[in-house]
Amino acid sequence: MYLNREEERILNGEYGEVMQKAMEILVALGEIYNADKLIHIKSAHISGVSYYNIGDAGLEFLREFSRGVRVSVKTTLNPCGADLLRWREMGINDEFIIKQIEIVDIFTRIGVEPTLSCTPYLTSNKPNKGDHIAWGESSAVAYANSVLGAMTNRESGISALASALIGKTPRYGMHLREERRPKIRIKVKARLEKPSDYGALAYAISKKIKSNEIPWIEGINGIGIEELKIFSASIATYTGLPIYHIQGITAEWREFSNISLSETIEIEDLDIKNAYDYLNDRFEEVDLIWIGCPHIGIEEFARISKLLKGKSVRVEMWITTSRYVRRIAEKKGYIEVIERSGAKILCDTCIAVAPLKNKFKTLITNSAKAFYYCRGVNNFLVKVLNLDKCIQYAIKGGSIE
Ligand code: F3S
Repeated sequence: MYLNREEERILNGEYGEVMQKAMEILVALGEIYNADKLIHIKSAHISGVSYYNIGDAGLEFLREFSRGVRVSVKTTLNPCGADLLRWREMGINDEFIIKQIEIVDIFTRIGVEPTLSCTPYLTSNKPNKGDHIAWGESSAVAYANSVLGAMTNRESGISALASALIGKTPRYGMHLREERRPKIRIKVKARLEKPSDYGALAYAISKKIKSNEIPWIEGINGIGIEELKIFSASIATYTGLPIYHIQGITAEWREFSNISLSETIEIEDLDIKNAYDYLNDRFEEVDLIWIGCPHIGIEEFARISKLLKGKSVRVEMWITTSRYVRRIAEKKGYIEVIERSGAKILCDTCIAVAPLKNKFKTLITNSAKAFYYCRGVNNFLVKVLNLDKCIQYAIKGGSIE
Protein backbone atom coordinates (compact mmCIF):
# COMPACT_ATOMS: atom_id res chain seq x y z
CA MET A 1 0.00 0.00 0.00
CA TYR A 2 1.30 3.43 -0.98
CA LEU A 3 2.11 5.79 1.93
CA ASN A 4 2.90 9.48 1.47
CA ARG A 5 5.79 11.11 3.29
CA GLU A 6 3.84 12.15 6.35
CA GLU A 7 2.27 8.69 6.68
CA GLU A 8 5.77 7.19 6.46
CA ARG A 9 6.92 9.51 9.24
CA ILE A 10 4.03 8.42 11.46
CA LEU A 11 4.89 4.80 10.72
CA ASN A 12 8.52 5.45 11.63
CA GLY A 13 7.48 6.72 15.05
CA GLU A 14 8.15 10.45 14.53
CA TYR A 15 4.72 11.32 15.97
CA GLY A 16 5.05 9.07 19.00
CA GLU A 17 4.45 5.45 19.85
CA VAL A 18 0.65 5.44 19.90
CA MET A 19 0.36 7.10 16.48
CA GLN A 20 2.95 4.64 15.18
CA LYS A 21 0.86 1.72 16.49
CA ALA A 22 -2.29 3.23 14.98
CA MET A 23 -0.58 3.53 11.61
CA GLU A 24 0.73 -0.04 11.87
CA ILE A 25 -2.86 -1.25 12.40
CA LEU A 26 -4.11 0.62 9.31
CA VAL A 27 -1.18 -0.54 7.18
CA ALA A 28 -1.69 -4.17 8.26
CA LEU A 29 -5.40 -3.93 7.40
CA GLY A 30 -4.63 -2.28 4.06
CA GLU A 31 -2.17 -5.01 3.17
CA ILE A 32 -4.51 -7.85 4.11
CA TYR A 33 -7.28 -6.38 1.93
CA ASN A 34 -5.07 -5.08 -0.92
CA ALA A 35 -5.83 -1.41 -0.37
CA ASP A 36 -3.91 0.91 -2.71
CA LYS A 37 -3.62 3.85 -0.27
CA LEU A 38 -5.08 5.58 2.76
CA ILE A 39 -7.97 8.04 2.31
CA HIS A 40 -9.24 10.83 4.55
CA ILE A 41 -12.36 10.11 6.62
CA LYS A 42 -15.07 12.52 7.77
CA SER A 43 -15.87 10.67 10.98
CA ALA A 44 -15.28 7.57 13.10
CA HIS A 45 -17.57 5.62 15.40
CA ILE A 46 -16.01 3.32 17.99
CA SER A 47 -17.64 0.12 19.25
CA GLY A 48 -16.38 -2.32 21.90
CA VAL A 49 -16.81 0.15 24.73
CA SER A 50 -18.43 -2.04 27.40
CA TYR A 51 -16.25 -3.19 30.29
CA TYR A 52 -18.37 -6.38 30.20
CA ASN A 53 -16.94 -7.14 26.75
CA ILE A 54 -13.39 -5.80 26.90
CA GLY A 55 -12.55 -6.53 30.55
CA ASP A 56 -9.30 -5.53 32.29
CA ALA A 57 -7.15 -6.42 29.29
CA GLY A 58 -9.13 -4.01 27.09
CA LEU A 59 -9.03 -1.28 29.72
CA GLU A 60 -5.27 -1.64 30.08
CA PHE A 61 -4.89 -1.48 26.30
CA LEU A 62 -6.93 1.75 26.20
CA ARG A 63 -4.88 3.34 28.99
CA GLU A 64 -1.75 2.76 26.90
CA PHE A 65 -3.27 3.52 23.52
CA SER A 66 -4.56 6.94 24.60
CA ARG A 67 -1.36 8.43 26.05
CA GLY A 68 -0.61 11.84 24.53
CA VAL A 69 -2.94 11.56 21.53
CA ARG A 70 -6.23 13.07 20.31
CA VAL A 71 -8.65 12.00 17.62
CA SER A 72 -8.33 14.07 14.47
CA VAL A 73 -11.91 13.73 13.14
CA LYS A 74 -15.41 13.75 14.65
CA THR A 75 -15.64 10.53 16.62
CA THR A 76 -18.57 9.07 18.53
CA LEU A 77 -18.94 6.13 20.90
CA ASN A 78 -21.16 3.03 20.92
CA PRO A 79 -23.22 2.04 24.01
CA CYS A 80 -21.37 0.93 27.12
CA GLY A 81 -22.37 -1.58 29.81
CA ALA A 82 -24.60 0.67 31.95
CA ASP A 83 -26.59 3.89 32.14
CA LEU A 84 -23.95 6.13 33.69
CA LEU A 85 -26.56 7.84 35.88
CA ARG A 86 -29.08 5.06 36.58
CA TRP A 87 -26.73 2.07 36.83
CA ARG A 88 -27.97 1.11 40.30
CA GLU A 89 -31.49 0.63 38.91
CA MET A 90 -29.98 -1.84 36.41
CA GLY A 91 -28.47 -3.85 39.26
CA ILE A 92 -24.90 -2.96 38.23
CA ASN A 93 -22.27 -3.09 40.98
CA ASP A 94 -19.76 -0.42 42.05
CA GLU A 95 -16.71 -2.27 40.78
CA PHE A 96 -18.16 -2.55 37.28
CA ILE A 97 -19.26 1.08 37.06
CA ILE A 98 -15.88 2.42 38.22
CA LYS A 99 -14.13 0.56 35.41
CA GLN A 100 -16.85 1.49 32.91
CA ILE A 101 -16.58 5.18 33.77
CA GLU A 102 -12.81 5.02 33.37
CA ILE A 103 -13.23 3.61 29.86
CA VAL A 104 -15.64 6.39 28.85
CA ASP A 105 -13.35 9.01 30.46
CA ILE A 106 -10.35 7.77 28.47
CA PHE A 107 -12.25 8.20 25.22
CA THR A 108 -13.58 11.61 26.26
CA ARG A 109 -10.07 12.79 27.19
CA ILE A 110 -8.78 12.05 23.68
CA GLY A 111 -11.59 14.03 22.09
CA VAL A 112 -14.24 11.36 21.43
CA GLU A 113 -17.85 12.54 21.93
CA PRO A 114 -19.41 10.22 24.55
CA THR A 115 -22.63 9.76 22.61
CA LEU A 116 -22.77 6.13 23.84
CA SER A 117 -25.28 5.18 21.18
CA CYS A 118 -25.50 2.72 18.31
CA THR A 119 -27.50 5.27 16.30
CA PRO A 120 -24.83 7.97 15.89
CA TYR A 121 -26.72 9.15 12.80
CA LEU A 122 -29.57 10.26 15.13
CA THR A 123 -27.13 12.23 17.29
CA SER A 124 -24.29 14.53 16.27
CA ASN A 125 -22.68 12.19 13.71
CA LYS A 126 -24.75 11.97 10.52
CA PRO A 127 -22.57 11.56 7.42
CA ASN A 128 -23.62 12.62 3.93
CA LYS A 129 -23.85 10.51 0.81
CA GLY A 130 -20.37 9.74 -0.54
CA ASP A 131 -18.54 10.57 2.72
CA HIS A 132 -15.78 8.12 3.63
CA ILE A 133 -16.05 7.17 7.31
CA ALA A 134 -14.63 4.47 9.61
CA TRP A 135 -17.39 3.07 11.79
CA GLY A 136 -17.68 0.06 14.05
CA GLU A 137 -21.11 -1.27 15.18
CA SER A 138 -22.58 -3.48 12.49
CA SER A 139 -26.12 -2.02 12.58
CA ALA A 140 -24.82 1.54 12.19
CA VAL A 141 -22.47 0.44 9.38
CA ALA A 142 -25.35 -1.15 7.43
CA TYR A 143 -27.50 1.95 7.99
CA ALA A 144 -24.72 4.39 7.04
CA ASN A 145 -23.78 2.55 3.82
CA SER A 146 -27.30 1.67 2.72
CA VAL A 147 -29.65 4.39 3.94
CA LEU A 148 -27.27 7.37 4.01
CA GLY A 149 -24.95 6.33 1.17
CA ALA A 150 -21.83 7.01 3.28
CA MET A 151 -18.90 4.62 2.72
CA THR A 152 -17.49 2.47 5.53
CA ASN A 153 -16.19 -1.01 6.09
CA ARG A 154 -17.23 -2.88 9.24
CA GLU A 155 -14.48 -1.66 11.50
CA SER A 156 -13.50 -3.26 14.78
CA GLY A 157 -13.24 -1.08 17.88
CA ILE A 158 -9.46 -0.96 17.46
CA SER A 159 -9.37 -0.17 13.74
CA ALA A 160 -12.02 2.56 14.19
CA LEU A 161 -9.92 4.07 16.99
CA ALA A 162 -6.75 3.88 14.86
CA SER A 163 -8.61 5.62 12.01
CA ALA A 164 -9.97 8.27 14.39
CA LEU A 165 -6.40 9.08 15.51
CA ILE A 166 -4.86 9.13 12.03
CA GLY A 167 -7.95 10.60 10.32
CA LYS A 168 -7.69 8.05 7.52
CA THR A 169 -8.66 4.51 6.54
CA PRO A 170 -7.30 2.07 3.93
CA ARG A 171 -9.15 2.29 0.61
CA TYR A 172 -10.77 -1.11 -0.01
CA GLY A 173 -14.17 -2.82 0.26
CA MET A 174 -17.07 -0.43 0.85
CA HIS A 175 -14.88 2.57 -0.05
CA LEU A 176 -14.87 1.37 -3.67
CA ARG A 177 -18.04 1.93 -5.68
CA GLU A 178 -17.78 -1.38 -7.57
CA GLU A 179 -17.69 -3.35 -4.30
CA ARG A 180 -21.09 -1.92 -3.35
CA ARG A 181 -22.95 -3.39 -6.34
CA PRO A 182 -25.89 -5.66 -5.66
CA LYS A 183 -25.40 -9.34 -6.50
CA ILE A 184 -28.81 -10.91 -6.02
CA ARG A 185 -32.44 -9.81 -6.48
CA ILE A 186 -34.89 -10.32 -3.61
CA LYS A 187 -38.61 -9.95 -4.43
CA VAL A 188 -40.59 -9.33 -1.28
CA LYS A 189 -44.10 -10.71 -1.76
CA ALA A 190 -44.83 -11.04 1.94
CA ARG A 191 -47.08 -8.53 3.69
CA LEU A 192 -45.00 -6.49 6.13
CA GLU A 193 -47.06 -4.45 8.57
CA LYS A 194 -44.97 -3.62 11.63
CA PRO A 195 -41.35 -2.45 12.01
CA SER A 196 -40.40 -5.74 13.73
CA ASP A 197 -41.48 -7.56 10.52
CA TYR A 198 -38.39 -6.02 8.90
CA GLY A 199 -36.15 -7.75 11.44
CA ALA A 200 -37.88 -11.02 10.54
CA LEU A 201 -37.50 -10.18 6.82
CA ALA A 202 -33.74 -9.74 7.21
CA TYR A 203 -33.54 -13.08 9.01
CA ALA A 204 -35.58 -14.73 6.23
CA ILE A 205 -33.30 -13.22 3.57
CA SER A 206 -30.22 -14.47 5.45
CA LYS A 207 -31.48 -18.04 5.09
CA LYS A 208 -31.57 -17.72 1.29
CA ILE A 209 -28.41 -15.84 0.31
CA LYS A 210 -24.66 -16.29 0.71
CA SER A 211 -22.67 -14.00 3.00
CA ASN A 212 -21.08 -12.06 0.11
CA GLU A 213 -24.28 -11.53 -1.90
CA ILE A 214 -25.31 -7.89 -1.50
CA PRO A 215 -29.10 -7.92 -1.93
CA TRP A 216 -31.15 -5.74 -4.25
CA ILE A 217 -34.58 -5.75 -2.64
CA GLU A 218 -37.85 -5.02 -4.47
CA GLY A 219 -41.45 -4.84 -3.27
CA ILE A 220 -41.06 -2.58 -0.23
CA ASN A 221 -42.78 0.80 -0.07
CA GLY A 222 -43.41 3.57 2.41
CA ILE A 223 -41.04 2.64 5.21
CA GLY A 224 -39.24 5.04 7.54
CA ILE A 225 -36.29 5.30 9.88
CA GLU A 226 -37.69 2.82 12.42
CA GLU A 227 -38.08 -0.01 9.88
CA LEU A 228 -34.70 0.78 8.29
CA LYS A 229 -32.93 0.74 11.67
CA ILE A 230 -34.42 -2.62 12.59
CA PHE A 231 -33.73 -4.08 9.14
CA SER A 232 -30.11 -2.80 9.13
CA ALA A 233 -29.43 -4.31 12.56
CA SER A 234 -30.92 -7.66 11.62
CA ILE A 235 -29.35 -8.01 8.16
CA ALA A 236 -25.92 -7.13 9.58
CA THR A 237 -26.36 -9.69 12.38
CA TYR A 238 -27.63 -12.61 10.33
CA THR A 239 -25.68 -12.12 7.06
CA GLY A 240 -22.61 -10.13 8.14
CA LEU A 241 -23.22 -7.81 5.16
CA PRO A 242 -22.26 -4.12 5.50
CA ILE A 243 -24.73 -2.92 2.84
CA TYR A 244 -28.05 -3.64 1.08
CA HIS A 245 -30.14 -1.78 -1.46
CA ILE A 246 -33.93 -1.31 -1.49
CA GLN A 247 -35.49 -0.13 -4.74
CA GLY A 248 -36.92 3.37 -4.38
CA ILE A 249 -35.70 3.78 -0.80
CA THR A 250 -31.98 3.46 -0.06
CA ALA A 251 -29.38 6.05 -1.05
CA GLU A 252 -27.82 4.40 -4.11
CA TRP A 253 -30.79 2.59 -5.62
CA ARG A 254 -30.82 4.78 -8.74
CA GLU A 255 -27.14 4.12 -9.49
CA PHE A 256 -27.74 0.37 -9.41
CA SER A 257 -31.26 0.14 -10.85
CA ASN A 258 -30.08 -1.00 -14.31
CA ILE A 259 -27.72 -3.72 -13.18
CA SER A 260 -28.68 -7.14 -14.49
CA LEU A 261 -28.88 -9.80 -11.81
CA SER A 262 -29.09 -13.42 -12.83
CA GLU A 263 -30.65 -14.82 -9.67
CA THR A 264 -33.96 -13.86 -8.05
CA ILE A 265 -35.25 -15.06 -4.71
CA GLU A 266 -38.78 -14.55 -3.40
CA ILE A 267 -39.83 -13.90 0.18
CA GLU A 268 -43.40 -15.00 0.92
CA ASP A 269 -45.62 -14.72 3.99
CA LEU A 270 -44.53 -18.22 5.00
CA ASP A 271 -40.86 -17.11 5.15
CA ILE A 272 -41.79 -14.32 7.56
CA LYS A 273 -43.86 -16.72 9.67
CA ASN A 274 -40.93 -19.17 9.76
CA ALA A 275 -38.61 -16.33 10.81
CA TYR A 276 -40.92 -15.38 13.69
CA ASP A 277 -41.14 -19.07 14.68
CA TYR A 278 -37.35 -19.13 14.93
CA LEU A 279 -37.20 -15.82 16.84
CA ASN A 280 -39.39 -17.29 19.55
CA ASP A 281 -37.98 -19.19 22.50
CA ARG A 282 -40.54 -21.04 24.65
CA PHE A 283 -41.33 -19.59 28.06
CA GLU A 284 -44.33 -18.30 29.98
CA GLU A 285 -43.18 -15.71 32.52
CA VAL A 286 -41.52 -12.57 31.19
CA ASP A 287 -38.77 -11.02 33.35
CA LEU A 288 -37.88 -8.06 31.15
CA ILE A 289 -39.25 -6.16 28.15
CA TRP A 290 -36.66 -4.30 26.09
CA ILE A 291 -37.38 -1.74 23.38
CA GLY A 292 -34.48 0.17 21.86
CA CYS A 293 -32.29 -2.11 19.78
CA PRO A 294 -31.03 -0.13 17.91
CA HIS A 295 -31.50 2.91 20.18
CA ILE A 296 -34.87 4.52 19.61
CA GLY A 297 -35.49 7.80 17.82
CA ILE A 298 -38.05 10.51 18.40
CA GLU A 299 -40.81 8.92 16.28
CA GLU A 300 -40.69 5.76 18.39
CA PHE A 301 -40.80 7.87 21.54
CA ALA A 302 -43.97 9.51 20.23
CA ARG A 303 -45.59 6.14 19.54
CA ILE A 304 -44.56 4.55 22.84
CA SER A 305 -45.77 7.53 24.87
CA LYS A 306 -49.13 7.35 23.09
CA LEU A 307 -49.45 3.65 23.89
CA LEU A 308 -48.43 4.09 27.54
CA LYS A 309 -50.35 7.30 28.29
CA GLY A 310 -52.35 6.86 31.49
CA LYS A 311 -51.31 3.19 31.82
CA SER A 312 -49.09 1.28 34.28
CA VAL A 313 -46.67 -1.46 33.33
CA ARG A 314 -46.75 -4.72 35.34
CA VAL A 315 -43.48 -6.11 34.01
CA GLU A 316 -40.00 -4.55 34.18
CA MET A 317 -39.70 -2.57 30.95
CA TRP A 318 -36.54 -0.83 29.72
CA ILE A 319 -36.33 1.51 26.76
CA THR A 320 -32.82 2.36 25.53
CA THR A 321 -31.83 5.49 23.65
CA SER A 322 -29.09 8.11 23.40
CA ARG A 323 -28.93 11.05 25.79
CA TYR A 324 -29.15 13.27 22.69
CA VAL A 325 -32.55 11.87 21.64
CA ARG A 326 -33.71 11.69 25.27
CA ARG A 327 -33.27 15.45 25.61
CA ILE A 328 -35.50 16.06 22.57
CA ALA A 329 -38.08 13.59 23.91
CA GLU A 330 -38.04 15.33 27.27
CA LYS A 331 -38.86 18.69 25.68
CA LYS A 332 -41.78 17.10 23.87
CA GLY A 333 -43.15 15.64 27.11
CA TYR A 334 -42.69 11.95 26.10
CA ILE A 335 -40.31 11.08 28.95
CA GLU A 336 -42.73 12.16 31.64
CA VAL A 337 -45.62 10.16 30.14
CA ILE A 338 -43.53 7.01 29.68
CA GLU A 339 -41.84 7.07 33.08
CA ARG A 340 -45.15 7.72 34.84
CA SER A 341 -46.22 4.30 33.53
CA GLY A 342 -43.30 2.69 35.39
CA ALA A 343 -41.21 1.94 32.26
CA LYS A 344 -37.56 3.04 32.55
CA ILE A 345 -35.74 5.04 29.90
CA LEU A 346 -32.06 4.17 29.98
CA CYS A 347 -29.29 5.98 28.11
CA ASP A 348 -25.65 5.16 27.29
CA THR A 349 -26.24 1.43 27.27
CA CYS A 350 -27.49 -1.66 25.46
CA ILE A 351 -28.89 -4.72 27.23
CA ALA A 352 -26.75 -6.99 25.05
CA VAL A 353 -23.51 -5.47 26.43
CA ALA A 354 -24.66 -5.03 30.04
CA PRO A 355 -23.69 -7.54 32.75
CA LEU A 356 -27.18 -8.95 33.29
CA LYS A 357 -26.51 -12.68 33.21
CA ASN A 358 -28.60 -14.38 35.94
CA LYS A 359 -30.38 -11.09 36.73
CA PHE A 360 -33.10 -11.92 34.20
CA LYS A 361 -33.91 -15.19 32.48
CA THR A 362 -36.53 -14.24 29.89
CA LEU A 363 -36.94 -11.26 27.60
CA ILE A 364 -39.39 -9.97 25.03
CA THR A 365 -38.23 -7.40 22.50
CA ASN A 366 -39.15 -6.00 19.08
CA SER A 367 -35.64 -6.53 17.67
CA ALA A 368 -34.32 -9.60 15.83
CA LYS A 369 -30.75 -8.45 16.57
CA ALA A 370 -31.51 -8.32 20.29
CA PHE A 371 -32.71 -11.94 20.04
CA TYR A 372 -29.30 -13.05 18.78
CA TYR A 373 -27.13 -11.11 21.23
CA CYS A 374 -29.20 -11.43 24.40
CA ARG A 375 -29.22 -15.19 24.00
CA GLY A 376 -25.51 -15.30 23.16
CA VAL A 377 -24.17 -12.82 25.72
CA ASN A 378 -26.59 -13.04 28.64
CA ASN A 379 -28.12 -16.52 28.09
CA PHE A 380 -31.66 -15.14 28.08
CA LEU A 381 -34.61 -16.91 26.51
CA VAL A 382 -36.00 -14.37 24.03
CA LYS A 383 -39.15 -13.74 21.99
CA VAL A 384 -39.48 -11.15 19.24
CA LEU A 385 -42.88 -9.44 19.05
CA ASN A 386 -43.96 -6.19 17.46
CA LEU A 387 -43.75 -3.02 19.55
CA ASP A 388 -47.51 -2.76 20.16
CA LYS A 389 -47.62 -6.35 21.44
CA CYS A 390 -44.61 -5.78 23.72
CA ILE A 391 -46.39 -2.80 25.24
CA GLN A 392 -49.75 -4.55 25.46
CA TYR A 393 -48.02 -7.32 27.35
CA ALA A 394 -46.22 -4.83 29.63
CA ILE A 395 -49.61 -3.40 30.61
CA LYS A 396 -51.45 -6.71 30.93
CA GLY A 397 -48.73 -8.97 32.46
CA GLY A 398 -49.55 -12.66 33.06
CA SER A 399 -48.62 -15.59 30.85
CA ILE A 400 -47.10 -14.85 27.42
CA GLU A 401 -48.01 -18.10 25.63
FE1 F3S B 1 -27.49 -1.21 19.54
FE2 F3S B 1 -27.05 -3.03 21.34
FE3 F3S B 1 -28.88 -3.42 19.56
S1 F3S B 1 -25.52 -1.83 20.30
S2 F3S B 1 -28.11 -2.38 17.74
S3 F3S B 1 -28.90 -1.79 21.13
S4 F3S B 1 -27.51 -4.99 20.35
